[in-house]
Amino acid sequence: MNVVVIGAQWGDEGKGKIVDYLANEAQIIVRFSGGANAGHTIVIGAEQYALHLIPSGILYLDKMVILGAGMVIDPVALFKEIKMLRDRGIDTTGRVFISDRAHIVLPRYIEIDKARDLARKKPIGTTGRGIGITYSMKSDRDGIRIADLDWKEKMDELDAADRDFLAPYVEQLKSMSIDLSSFLFHHKNSQTLFEGAQGTLLDLDLGTYPYVSSGMSCAAGAAIGGCVGPRNLDKVLGVFKAYSTRVGNGPFPSEFNLDAEDELCRFVRETGREYGVTTGRPRRCGYLDLVALRYACLTNSIDSLVMTHLDVYDTLDEIKACVAYRIGDKMVETFPASVEALNKAQPVLRAFPGWKKSLTNALTYEEFPIPAMEYIEFIERFCETPIDIVSVGYDRKETIIRKSPWTK
Ligand code: IMP
Repeated sequence: MNVVVIGAQWGDEGKGKIVDYLANEAQIIVRFSGGANAGHTIVIGAEQYALHLIPSGILYLDKMVILGAGMVIDPVALFKEIKMLRDRGIDTTGRVFISDRAHIVLPRYIEIDKARDLARKKPIGTTGRGIGITYSMKSDRDGIRIADLDWKEKMDELDAADRDFLAPYVEQLKSMSIDLSSFLFHHKNSQTLFEGAQGTLLDLDLGTYPYVSSGMSCAAGAAIGGCVGPRNLDKVLGVFKAYSTRVGNGPFPSEFNLDAEDELCRFVRETGREYGVTTGRPRRCGYLDLVALRYACLTNSIDSLVMTHLDVYDTLDEIKACVAYRIGDKMVETFPASVEALNKAQPVLRAFPGWKKSLTNALTYEEFPIPAMEYIEFIERFCETPIDIVSVGYDRKETIIRKSPWTK
């Protein structure tokens, strides 16, 4: 069975924790897009791990993890991460594989990425990890793939600096390289989890272009970047936070207004630890945007939603969520493509009573206070999608499963 986990907002929804949790019942975890721009945090008891490239399932010692064809791999970041895991007692030997179709990030791409964003009149606020340049080299047909490391003519054509950079990594990368489609076909009776990075609204096609990343962070990306046909994806889970965040620039209609809601913004940022795992930047914070969430459900065929960080709202008297936009004199209930329209959009907010009780110790959904259930059930009706998992803390055990995605 193949289950896809994607972000339903602007990334940082808590996918790392959810993938780690669901990986317990999987044998294989495939990350299908992005690169070292992502940052997935996993907390196990007193231990915290920040992963950028390696799929979150690596922390289970019996799982195989794969960096898929849709990814862009920075060898420096990859081997640093493998070393970090080994230093902390996580044996990665024979468990980390890379699709031979994945592209390689070169140091000069990182420099171009940073310089190009600085030179933009309106910078995107990239993570500066060379991601956009690697994907554009790919679409220009000038990229270097893992499979190319064996292609003498191609390697001979490279600039000396690129060849010298790659030289110490070539044998290690080749030893991890696999034909992903054959590998997954061979393991077709396994439970495989396809792990997305970033989120729908940062997807190159579906997101708030040009303020997006360059990979396919939508569910369709799992098929392409995971080397399987779309009909082989059995379920799609969309992860979202009880509020919204965004890192970098670009439209964010439900962002807290810092003149009026500065205190709420600080509260959410501090309580939710809303600082980038990759860059340390404070994340922009706002109300849950249900217009955007419904758009994510539609465009990804989300079968079930996973709500995270609900506990951040435990102490509030009242909670609000955006249910439409006011753009000029129009009420809009769908997610516009136009950045101009999104920038003008004023959130139409609906208020919900707070529950004023800690959710973290709840073991089942039935133990939630009624106002928390009402907030959840309103979202389900609005998005016409069930919320099957609710996360109420960072730890693996602070997760309420209403319905497991592994049941057919
Ligand atoms: P890039 O992916 O480094 O090119 O950055 C493009 C945009 O995507 C910037 O606004 C980044 O802040 C944002 N971005 C990239 N990766 C992540 C992520 O994992 N979480 C949140 N935002 C991200």
